Amino acid sequence: MFSSRLPARLGPSPLSRAIGLARGEGRVRIDLTETNPTVVGLEYPHDLVGALADPAVLTYDPASLGTVTARAAVAAGYTTTVVDPARVVLTASTSEAYAFLFKLLCDPGDHVAIPRPSYPLFDLLTSLEGVEPRPYRLDPAGGWAIDRDSLMQALTPRTRAILVVSPNNPTGSCLRAADRDWLVELARDRQLALIADEVFADYPLVPRRDASSLLGTSGALTFTLGGLSKSAGLPQMKLAWTVISGPDDLVAAARDRLDLLADSYLSVSTPVQVAAPRLLAAGRDVQRAIRPRLVANLETIRRFVKRAPAMSVYEPEGGWSAVIRVPAILSEDQWVLRLIDDCGVLVHPGYFFDLDTGVHLVVSLLPAPDVFETGLSAIADRVRSLS
Ligand SMILES: Cc1ncc(COP(=O)(O)O)c(C=O)c1O
Repeated sequence: MFSSRLPARLGPSPLSRAIGLARGEGRVRIDLTETNPTVVGLEYPHDLVGALADPAVLTYDPASLGTVTARAAVAAGYTTTVVDPARVVLTASTSEAYAFLFKLLCDPGDHVAIPRPSYPLFDLLTSLEGVEPRPYRLDPAGGWAIDRDSLMQALTPRTRAILVVSPNNPTGSCLRAADRDWLVELARDRQLALIADEVFADYPLVPRRDASSLLGTSGALTFTLGGLSKSAGLPQMKLAWTVISGPDDLVAAARDRLDLLADSYLSVSTPVQVAAPRLLAAGRDVQRAIRPRLVANLETIRRFVKRAPAMSVYEPEGGWSAVIRVPAILSEDQWVLRLIDDCGVLVHPGYFFDLDTGVHLVVSLLPAPDVFETGLSAIADRVRSLS
């Protein structure tokens, strides 16, 4: 009776069930999987709430791609590249932006090349649009740069788009300038679109000199995604955006089609669009609160890795997460359960993000530094005592 876009079997995996049970029994005391910025003790600017209390929110004047004011505020928020507000499309979330882009670019059964390891939602987001994800590899030995051979192998006659996440979740790796140029040429030659998820772009950690962005690319049709959930630490506001770039004729054709698509949903609320200029401005303060945390927590990882040489960290170049390699004496599931049972610390198993070379744990860098340090200390102790 139901569509195969959704999984035939719902319900939690055995690991999720065990974690749910541990949470219910109060055995998870330190949650290093927390990526919700609103629950990790950050100070938000007080005038944020006032931004929503504008009488203008009471008038509904639908604008399919988003209001002129909100789109202008998003465009102005980009400081390194000039963005034309007419090329900005608002959605309620990045997930919705993906849904629109897959509808725009793909027929049912078409393919989209997606990076591995990366954000776990891509399998579902593609499947929900009747599109098939074709994974390509990021190379751990090369700082998680694009494995070009693997990407070439992932392309099929039905591929419509290549997805790039920079900084990537969870590896924190950024697109290299040489890979950007190569991708643009490849996309242009094969008439593919590029989808660049740059939601973590405001959080550089140890940026490489050759790190690059696809924003404003002119050689191939490109969609660059961002949103308040990361830029302003405000996932509950439900505002994300897509910047279209590329050859003018393709940009115009894509924009007209997105206009129709977005007009069929009109999902972005009026209050958030009225508040957008102030939310984006306040977001810069939130970024200033988040960044030192990311830096401090990454430094904590480095410190504990030195004390427990059996574990190592892939240095993230940006973003909110880090990948820690632990000895293969236990499986990833066993590590996760062991850390809960022995120390009340919750981490993600690497396979959750399709990390498949070695045994990895993924931690969020968002928790308060004292909480994070206690969690890392417990992990390092376990690694030392078990290896
Ligand atoms: C790479 C990446 N893109 C998008 C999102 C989700 O963004 P949104 O809340 O706007 O749907 C996440 C969330 O963690 C993410 O990791």
